[in-house]
Amino acid sequence: MNSIDSKERIKNHFETEAVEFDNLILKLIPFYEEMIEALISTIPFENNKDINVIDLGCGTGTISLKIKEKFPNAKITCLDIAENMLNIAKFKLSEFHDITFCLGDFNDYTFDKKYDVVVSSLALHHLANNIDKKIFYEKVFKSLNDMGVFYNADVVLGSNSHNQNISMKKWTEYMNKNVSIEEIENKWIPNYEAEDRPAKLYDQLEWLSSIGFNNIDVVWKYHNFAVYGGQK
Ligand SMILES: C[S@@+](CC[C@H](N)C(=O)[O-])C[C@H]1O[C@@H](n2cnc3c(N)ncnc32)[C@H](O)[C@@H]1O
Repeated sequence: MNSIDSKERIKNHFETEAVEFDNLILKLIPFYEEMIEALISTIPFENNKDINVIDLGCGTGTISLKIKEKFPNAKITCLDIAENMLNIAKFKLSEFHDITFCLGDFNDYTFDKKYDVVVSSLALHHLANNIDKKIFYEKVFKSLNDMGVFYNADVVLGSNSHNQNISMKKWTEYMNKNVSIEEIENKWIPNYEAEDRPAKLYDQLEWLSSIGFNNIDVVWKYHNFAVYGGQK
């Protein structure tokens, strides 16, 4: 599949899944709420500070809503490629007037201003390969204000095949508490193989370091899911 077909497939997946997404994600992603809580807790600013935030692949707006609950003065840009996901985000966040919704692809997104916080959850693994990911992290670094942070909650690869196999087993066990093994084997694992391009966590931390990020950390991890990032 070339990268345009793959992007179209990803977009169609989330356009179709939007209405059931919030329910589904809890069934498929181990400890999703705990992971997001870890992501939000890394934001190192006073709660009342006026911060500029961008949520890359914001989906239905779950992360942005939690940021607004903790940082009421945050101005957030919500970016997503799937209109149906973004429409749910607009609905969920409709009480706030300082949120900008952008329908677009983060691959060719031009960061139009400087941010204090760049966050993403379960989206950047869609960047096609390691080169694209590293170039993207460089773009994120340039878009940050000094002391600004980038944190990503995402699916990652283990450093060797043993760890990767254990992760896949643990992930399957988690999903199987909520969905049948047939559905996992015939739908969710093939979906992962067709759409997801995770990178090794260790490599990503090295890229962040070589780009110039400080205070690089992994603040949460469960096998192939992790929250990691750094500060400018
Ligand atoms: C698994 S969902 C996660 C949504 C949300 N961040 C969350 O954790 O609840 C991934 C989201 O990334 C979006 N996405 C995937 N590729 C994208 C791209 N190239 N540009 C912008 N958004 C993208 C999808 O449309 C989808 O809404």
